[in-house]
Amino acid sequence: MSTYRIASIPGDGIGVDVTAEARRVLDRAGELHGFGLEWTEFDWSCERYTKTGRMMPEDGIERLRPFDGIFLGAVGFPGVADHVSLWGLLIPIRRAFAQYVNLRPVRLLPGTTSVLAGRGADELEMVIVRENTEGEYSQIGGRHNPGQPNEFALQESIFTRVGVERIVRFAFELARTRSHRVTSATKSNGIIHTMPFWDEVFAEVAAEYPDVHSEQTHIDALAARMVQYPDRLDVVVGSNLFGDILSDLAAAVTGGLGMAPSGNVNPPGEFPSMFEAVHGSAPDIAGQGIANPVAQILAGAMMLDHLGEKAAAAAVNAAVEQVLAAGEVATPDLGGKSTSTELGAAITAALA
Ligand code: NAD
Ligand code: IPM
Ligand code: MN
Repeated sequence: MSTYRIASIPGDGIGVDVTAEARRVLDRAGELHGFGLEWTEFDWSCERYTKTGRMMPEDGIERLRPFDGIFLGAVGFPGVADHVSLWGLLIPIRRAFAQYVNLRPVRLLPGTTSVLAGRGADELEMVIVRENTEGEYSQIGGRHNPGQPNEFALQESIFTRVGVERIVRFAFELARTRSHRVTSATKSNGIIHTMPFWDEVFAEVAAEYPDVHSEQTHIDALAARMVQYPDRLDVVVGSNLFGDILSDLAAAVTGGLGMAPSGNVNPPGEFPSMFEAVHGSAPDIAGQGIANPVAQILAGAMMLDHLGEKAAAAAVNAAVEQVLAAGEVATPDLGGKSTSTELGAAITAALA
């Protein structure tokens, strides 16, 4: 029997609730499909920062390196500045392990309360391929002339040829396994150095994939299209910031942040990949036991798929769909009154 070693970092707020639910579902999937998950839990969080001044220990990255996968809840909570908590944990992990693909599949699931609810699942089945290690997320820049009338802040973006090319290529390869369509999101009419560069690299790579239909769009127009005509999109590739924004938008049109999973993937498999929900720690509902665990459970299914446990991953996806379609157990974001634990338990039961 295979046993996978997984590092679990529940993090902050609802991250703690949803990872607990997801772990129960994944453990049961392992029992039913003949593999084991050996969890090691790390208490890396804003609470830890408050006590020790660090989100994770100095050798945190080294401790994660031997694992087969990393399962992250959410990081960030009022009391610790977001740029401190996120640059102290999430972003360093993505970079240290060259998780340059942030894969964010979006599907219209049954039981949603979204603007598109009731339309066919085939109308919305896309995947955001977000560049995950460079771009607008950079530490280059600074604050100048504090308190003066001429005070200003500078923030640089970095787009390397290697970085853009590999994410765009990933999107085209993925499109070959799907509907052979790739849409690139840039803003080359306003951002005059980095974005035209991205478009140029995109066009070069597109030329190598004559069987894939490619289009370059402006992100503002794309955002509107994602709501009005989502069926015209399949693989959407964008920079770190644009992919971030588009993935919350895509989640919202398919039923909300409680339903959207993501994988921070190191494609060569040289380093561990990390799976998490798209959403954050939701301080507004933290501690109430009512967070929707579906996004984290689906992130768990992505992790099983990545580990090669395809049948178990498919079974988890099917169990989620079955429970959502029945509509009897639903958290408040889905219009119901159930708790996170009730929904997690219903999905676990549906696995059998
Ligand atoms: P958020 O995603 O935490 O919450 C946005 C809204 O969606 C809130 O109203 C929340 O209640 C709701 N929501 C989110 N997930 C839900 C779920 N599973 N079930 C039901 N409702 C849900 O975004 P935010 O408020 O901008 O961020 C809160 C904190 O989380 C910040 O510190 C932010 O930096 C951090 N964050 C972390 C990650 C991560 O670790 N990957 C991702 C996003 C935000
Ligand atoms: C996400 C989050 C993070 C990001 C934040 C918390 C830094 O929004 O994973 O989508 O922007 O990458
Ligand atoms: Mn985000």
